[in-house]
Amino acid sequence: MDYEKAYKILENFGQLHVLKYYDSLTESEQKNLLSQIGEINFEVINSLNRQETDEKNIKPVSALQLSEISEKKEEYEALGIKAIQNGALALVLLAGGQGTRLGYAGPKGTFNVGITKDLFIFELLIQHTLDIVKKTDTWIPFYIMTSDKNNDETVAFFKEHHYFGYDASYIHFFKQEMVPSVDFNGKIYMEDKGQICLSPNGNGGWFSSLCKAGYLKDILDNQVKYINVFSVDNVLQGIADPVFLGAILKEGYASGGKVVKKASPDERVGVLCTNNDKPYIVEYYELTDEMRDERNADGEYAYNYGVTLNYIFPIDKLISTMDTDMPLHIVKKAIPYLDEHGVYVKPSEPNGYKFETLALDMITFMGTCLPFEVDREKEFAPIKNATGVDSIETARQLLTKNGYTL
Ligand code: UTP
Repeated sequence: MDYEKAYKILENFGQLHVLKYYDSLTESEQKNLLSQIGEINFEVINSLNRQETDEKNIKPVSALQLSEISEKKEEYEALGIKAIQNGALALVLLAGGQGTRLGYAGPKGTFNVGITKDLFIFELLIQHTLDIVKKTDTWIPFYIMTSDKNNDETVAFFKEHHYFGYDASYIHFFKQEMVPSVDFNGKIYMEDKGQICLSPNGNGGWFSSLCKAGYLKDILDNQVKYINVFSVDNVLQGIADPVFLGAILKEGYASGGKVVKKASPDERVGVLCTNNDKPYIVEYYELTDEMRDERNADGEYAYNYGVTLNYIFPIDKLISTMDTDMPLHIVKKAIPYLDEHGVYVKPSEPNGYKFETLALDMITFMGTCLPFEVDREKEFAPIKNATGVDSIETARQLLTKNGYTL
C-alpha cells in the first residue's frame, strides 16, 4: 500500500486523521502504518450506520437431556470413539480473546488456578483431551487460535511446558484477524502516532482464519469431518467428547452444542432455539418476560438450557459459511487511545466501539443443531471474572468438588 492509495481510502471513509503524524514518523513506522491501513476492512466501520431489519421468529427446541443420554451412553460413545479413530474429529481452542473481565495480564490460558501447585488453564484443557486420546488410542489434531496481542506468549508457554504431554506435532497455532476500534462517531482511534488501535475481531472468524493460515488442506487431506470448537475459559469442559459426537451422529443432527440447565430463568446465558426455523442462540437480553416464563409440555421452562461455547460443527457446512456475511456485533468498550494532543489516555468507562463476529452465530448456517445437556456441576466452570459469578473462586470450588487437588 503506498501513501497516495492509503490517503484516498481514508479520505473516502472520513478517516484522514489517521495520517496526522505521518510526516513525523520514521520510515519503518510509515511503512507499518500503511500496511495496517491496507489490511483494514473499512466497510465494517460503516456498519455502525446500518439498522437490523430481519424479522425474528424464535421458537424453543428441546435439549437431549442427561437422563436420555445416560440410557444410550454406550451406543453414543462407541460411535464417537469409532469416528475419532477414523480421524473424523479435529479441535479448535478459541484463545484469541483479551480476557478483560478477568484483568489478568497474560493470555487467559496461562492463568494458574492451582493453589499449592501449578495448574494452568491450558494444562487442564490438554489433560481433558489426553483422557480421550488415551481412550481412543488416537492423537487428535489440536488447533489453537490466538491473536496478535497474545500469540507469541501463548506459543512460548506451550513450548516451555512441553505441550503438557500432548504430541507437539498435532498442535498448531493460528492467528485471528484484527479490526480497528472507533469512537462513538465512528472515527478510528490511534494507539500511537503511527499505530491504529486494533483489537481481535471476535471469535466468529475462527474458521476463516484457520483456512487463511493454510490448514484447510491438511484437514481435508486427513478426512476430518467435524471440528469441536470450544472456549479457553471453561476448565471442566469435556473436549473431543465421544458421547457428544456419537449423539450427533446417531440422532441425525448436522451439528451440536453442549448446554447446561439454567441456574434460574433469568441467568445471563444464551439459549439454543430456532429463528425462522434455523438454529439460533437467543441472548438473555432478547428473551421477553413471556418467553422467559413459557413452559413446554413437560412443565419445564421452554428456554431452559444455556449454551457453553462448546460446539461440534461439520466441515462441509463450515466451508459454506465462508461465502456468507456473519452478523456483526458492535460492542461498547473502554479503549485506550492517543488523544488530540498526542497524550495516551486509558479510560475507565466505555468510550467507543469494537466490532466482533461470534462463533455462536455460526449455528444458523449448520442446518440442524443438537442441544446436548451436560451436568453443570461436572462440566461448567467458566473463568470470566476475578471474583463473583463465573470466577476464579467458583471454578476452584467446582474443580475441588470434582476431585482436583489445587
Ligand atoms: P469472551 O466472550 O469471554 O471474551 O470469549 P474475552 O475477550 O475472552 O473476555 P472479556 O469479554 O474481554 O472478559 C469467549 C471465548 O472466545 C475467545 C476467548 O478467548 C474465549 O475462549 N475469543 C474471544 C477469541 O478467541 N477471540 C476474540 O476476539 C474474542
